[in-house]
Amino acid sequence: MVNVDGRLAGERDAVVSVFDHGFLFGEGVYEVMRTYRQRPFLYDPHMRRLRASADRIALSIPTSDAEIRERITATIAAAQLPAEAYIRLLVTRGVGEIGYDPTSCPAPTIVVIVKPHTELAPEAYANGVTIALVSVVRNHPESVNPIIKSNNLLNNALAMQEAYRRGAAEALMKNHRGEIAECAMSNIFVVTHGAVRTPPVSAGLLAGVTRAFVLELAAKTGIRAFEETLRDEDILSAGEMFFTSTTREIVPVVRVDRHVVGTGKPGPVTLRLRAAFAEALRSV
Ligand code: PDD
Repeated sequence: MVNVDGRLAGERDAVVSVFDHGFLFGEGVYEVMRTYRQRPFLYDPHMRRLRASADRIALSIPTSDAEIRERITATIAAAQLPAEAYIRLLVTRGVGEIGYDPTSCPAPTIVVIVKPHTELAPEAYANGVTIALVSVVRNHPESVNPIIKSNNLLNNALAMQEAYRRGAAEALMKNHRGEIAECAMSNIFVVTHGAVRTPPVSAGLLAGVTRAFVLELAAKTGIRAFEETLRDEDILSAGEMFFTSTTREIVPVVRVDRHVVGTGKPGPVTLRLRAAFAEALRSV
């Protein structure tokens, strides 16, 4: 079920204009959320990030968080899903002339797509997954800054194509300096001697909502966790590795291409964090 500018439409009838600058130029921002017990999880931080992304492309979103939440709730209700919901909220520049002048677009387009949330296979959590260190470099922060959750995802799509060709579940990307940045659809963490590390936002990455949630969880659980620049050697020496995202939570990584991480099985710190995550969800 889809909501386009406040109007509900089925998947076949949901349309936006080909003159929308989102379609023409990829000018837009988005969020992916999911529900637990039918309620959007971490709605406020997602909306804060959406507005921060929009600000960075000089896109103003006239609709309030409360109104957008109502649209999401209405779309979920209309979808009558058999399971939890995957929610994709997109805001584009809107319809205008074919040209970059944003003043030709009087109003943004706001789309909510709701579909059933699909869990990653249980084996992925039980055994861990393989990721690929790809040749596609994460966007330079002075180009389209990766901190913007932009609809302009061609770079990520190319990174994932490379990962899929190698049979990997995610594409690990470096930044322009050759440091580890993040994956194409998630944030990366390594565990070394019990301490959890993830690259700083200054490495050029999306400040994941799950990333922040997991850093907080680690602090509450008594696990040392901090941001630090990561390089190839940190990948090679990591005892454990995992990635985080809204739709997949915490996923153990047991191989980076042919390199086996630690024992080749999900590690104890990763499992403790997964347990803490599950525990935290009991009270939402
Ligand atoms: N992906 N990095 C990138 C490039 C991402 O696209 C995402 C999210 C993340 C993780 O962020 P969060 O924890 O806020 O979901 C990191 C979403 C799920 C997607 O595009 O489907």
